[in-house]
Amino acid sequence: MEWTREERYRLLDDVDEQELIELKRRVDDSPYRLHYHIQPPIGLLNDPNGFAYYNGEYHLFYQWFPLGPVHGLKHWYHLTSTDLVQWEENGVGIAPTHYYDSHGAFSGTAMEHDNKLYLMYTGNTRDQEWNRTSYQAVAVMEAGEITKSDHPVISELPPGYTSHFRDPKLWKEGGMFYALIGAQRTNQTGCVLLYQSSDLQTWDFVGEVNVQEELKSFGFMWECPDYLKVDGEHVFMFCPQGLEADGMHYQNLYQSGYMLIDQIDVDQPALYSSTFYEFDRGFDFYAPQTTTDEFGNKVLIGWMGLPEIEYPSDQGGWAHCMTIPRELRIECGKLKQMPVTAITKRRQTSRHVTDDLLNEQQSYDGFSGVSYELDCNLRATTAKRMGILVRTGVGEQTKLIFDLETNLFTLDRSSAGKPFAIDYGTTRSCSLKGSSIDLRVFVDTSSIEVFLNGGEEVFTARIFPDQKSDGIVFFTEGGEAKLEASFYRYH
Ligand code: FRU
Repeated sequence: MEWTREERYRLLDDVDEQELIELKRRVDDSPYRLHYHIQPPIGLLNDPNGFAYYNGEYHLFYQWFPLGPVHGLKHWYHLTSTDLVQWEENGVGIAPTHYYDSHGAFSGTAMEHDNKLYLMYTGNTRDQEWNRTSYQAVAVMEAGEITKSDHPVISELPPGYTSHFRDPKLWKEGGMFYALIGAQRTNQTGCVLLYQSSDLQTWDFVGEVNVQEELKSFGFMWECPDYLKVDGEHVFMFCPQGLEADGMHYQNLYQSGYMLIDQIDVDQPALYSSTFYEFDRGFDFYAPQTTTDEFGNKVLIGWMGLPEIEYPSDQGGWAHCMTIPRELRIECGKLKQMPVTAITKRRQTSRHVTDDLLNEQQSYDGFSGVSYELDCNLRATTAKRMGILVRTGVGEQTKLIFDLETNLFTLDRSSAGKPFAIDYGTTRSCSLKGSSIDLRVFVDTSSIEVFLNGGEEVFTARIFPDQKSDGIVFFTEGGEAKLEASFYRYH
């Protein structure tokens, strides 16, 4: 169904209560609702926003269009948690009620200051001719109340840039506050701009962050920048839009990745790096955001979805979810990502198995379900290929295959269930050396997240199998392998 502009930009306050009740009923009937991932109560979820540990609690917001599975008038939906695993829903945190965010309270980040949580975000507006103007705004949370200001904190766009100017990332350094904002040069290339402030309210433009030649035309827009320090290394993250697919890389509609850089010199901002790494090698991952947890670890959460793609859940009146939050480490010059430790609180019953896989398919008692964690090590003795099939059922399976001849690991969702986004291919792969592989696989009703070899690579995907497709099958081809596996049902 095509949604008109009027339908996409209706104010929630103008919507009849009964309409929301009916939509909620439709959503609750959807067979794809998840068990342990953050999902919208109704409508569409996209980017994580304002992720912070503040006053003894984690706060997370997300981009939310309440009225259906499409991108329309965006709100910030607010969640809180004490452990990053169990989340409480607090409803709308920021509504697009002012002239400077009339067409959406777009993405942004949070910063604690003077015992308050400052939320800096982009106010998206359109005029009669649908021309865009982007403002940067600040809302302040204190004692559970979020107050918006009457006016934006940045209204003027510096010359040389288009109105694609959004997603401020805040940080503090040497007593000053800084914001990196995603932007597009008038020659239609992506970049980031740096601003500074002493009080988070008055902002001065420092300049465009300088980059080396290859990055000067690296996509047409850089969305959702982030900048953080992990294990002593500086990391710059962003979402370049418009990169061409390149072999196993950049296969999704838009990319999300990071570079290890020198600390950004705030007087002469620049980032120089040789390698852009994709955060996730799967199909559905975008716009991640990070925070520091109560123990000092860096934690990332991402949107398990991409824009401009129809998902089978749309029919049920909702779309998308968040990834499991991931703890970040740097090892050997690369980021490693593992699910936050507390996720194991979800474990209910468990099963363990140690076995020799003899060129065959093998399943085990109790290893089945639609909501679980499966941890295993597969070690080839003579096998040429080995792997796991999950969510197996009549004509359905999601395949995880390690090919020892080509040194490729592949996630294949070609027969995972309801097909979607097939124009972007049905397999994703990465190179993997050695004859042994460690996998932590997290399956939920309509999602899969695979962490390889201690988080060296991650594959995230939505899948839409039948509820009855709950089998797990281990296999080898062309020889034998040793298997050790633990299965934990999740609630
Ligand atoms: C990324 C993004 C952001 C923007 C938000 C709007 O997915 O396009 O750049 O702020 O979504 O919902």
